Amino acid sequence: MPERKSTLFVGIAQLVTSQAGPQRGAAMRSLTLISGAALLVQDGLIAWVGSEKDAPPADQIHDLGGVAVTPALTDPHTHAVWAGDRLADFEARVQGVPYETILAQGGGIRSTMRATAAATLPELVALALPRVHSLTRSGATTLEIKSGYGLDFDAEIRMLEAVRLLQTQTSATLLPTLLLHVPPSEGRAGYVQDVCRTLIPRVAGERLATAVDVFCEREAFTVEETRQFFAAARQSGLSIKLHADQFHAIGGTELACDQGALSVDHLEASGEAQIAALGRSSTVATILPGVTLHLGLPAAPARQLIDAGACVALGTDLNPGSSPLYSAQLALALGVRLNRLTPAEALTAATVNAAAALGLTDRGTLFPGMRADFLALHSADWRDLPSTLGATPVRSVFVAGQEFSL
Ligand code: NIG
Ligand code: FE
Repeated sequence: MPERKSTLFVGIAQLVTSQAGPQRGAAMRSLTLISGAALLVQDGLIAWVGSEKDAPPADQIHDLGGVAVTPALTDPHTHAVWAGDRLADFEARVQGVPYETILAQGGGIRSTMRATAAATLPELVALALPRVHSLTRSGATTLEIKSGYGLDFDAEIRMLEAVRLLQTQTSATLLPTLLLHVPPSEGRAGYVQDVCRTLIPRVAGERLATAVDVFCEREAFTVEETRQFFAAARQSGLSIKLHADQFHAIGGTELACDQGALSVDHLEASGEAQIAALGRSSTVATILPGVTLHLGLPAAPARQLIDAGACVALGTDLNPGSSPLYSAQLALALGVRLNRLTPAEALTAATVNAAAALGLTDRGTLFPGMRADFLALHSADWRDLPSTLGATPVRSVFVAGQEFSL
C-alpha cells in the first residue's frame, strides 16, 4: 500500500526523464534533466518535481545522498514462467545448429513445453519468482509475462495462473499475456478454431490475461492464423501483440500495424516495408537485443525505425531458449551497442515507450500525476545506466514511492 504521508526525495544530483506519452522518432532523444532536483511523492504518485531549492514542504524527507534518479524501467516482453532448461540446445547452437532447425526437429520451444507441462502450479511459481525479482532488482518495476509453453489449454491456463500468484508476491506490476506460440504437429486447423472459440474467451472471461500475442513465423503460425487469433482476441476485449520478423518477414508486422496491435516485437528480419509500416502506425516496435546476442541474429534495425518515425521500445525477452537475459538494465545497455540507439533513445525505449507497448500511460516518466516508480543509481550521472555492463548501476528501486526490498 502506498504511504498516505507525503515524502520529499532530496539529494538528487541529477534527475532525468523522457517526455510524457509515447515518443516517436527524433522525440525519443529529448530528455528533461534537472540538476540538484527534488521529487515529492504522495499516495504512490509523483506530486511535484523540480529544483530542490524550490521544493514544497512534506511530511517526511528522504535524502538519496547525491545520486542520479531515472524513471523505473518497464520490461514489455518476457517469458519468465517456464520449467526445464535449454542447455543442450545452447551447446548445439554455438556449434552451428540453427535455432529453427532444433525447433523443426521437435526440440527448442517444444522441449520447454514438455518440461513446463510436467510442472505443477506451485513449482512454476517457485521457478519464476527469482526471475521476476532479478528483473525488478535490475530496474524493471513493470513486467509483461507471457504464457506459451502450455502443451494444452490447461497448461496454458496454469501458466497464466502462475502469473496471478506471482503478483501476490511482488510489488512490481505484472501483466499477463496469452501467447499462441507454436501449432500442434497434427490437427492444426481444429486447434486454431478451438483457441479462438474456447481458450481466448475463457482467458478473457477469467481475466487471466490483458493481451493475446502470436508467434508469426515459418516454423510457427501463419499470417492467416494470426488474423484469426487477433479477431477472437478483439471480440473478447483483449489487446493484441505480435512476435514477428524474427527470422523471416512473412507479413505479420504489416497485419499487426493494420489491426492496431499494441506492439510488434523482434523485427530482426524487418526490411523497408516493415520499417515503413511501423513508422506510419501507432503500434510500438519492440526490440530485444538479448536475442541478437544469444542467437547471433542480426540486430533489429532500430536506427532506421527511429528515423522512419516509429515508437521504439526495448525488452529482455527473458526465456530459456533465445534470450536468457535476467536484467532489464542490461537489455537497455545492449540496445545501445547492438541496435545503435543513443543513450537517450535507449532510456525512452525502456521506460515510457515500453509502458506504451503494454498500453500503460501512467508510468515511465517523472512528472506530476505519474506513478512514483523510479531508480536511484550508485553514481551521480544517469548515463551509467546505459553504459554499465556486468554489474548493476542501480542502487535502489522505488515502486509507488516505496523502496523495493527482498
Ligand atoms: O521471443 N521466438 C519465439 N519465442 C521466444 C523464444 C522462446 C524459446 O525459445 O523458448 C522469443 O524469442
Ligand atoms: Fe518472445
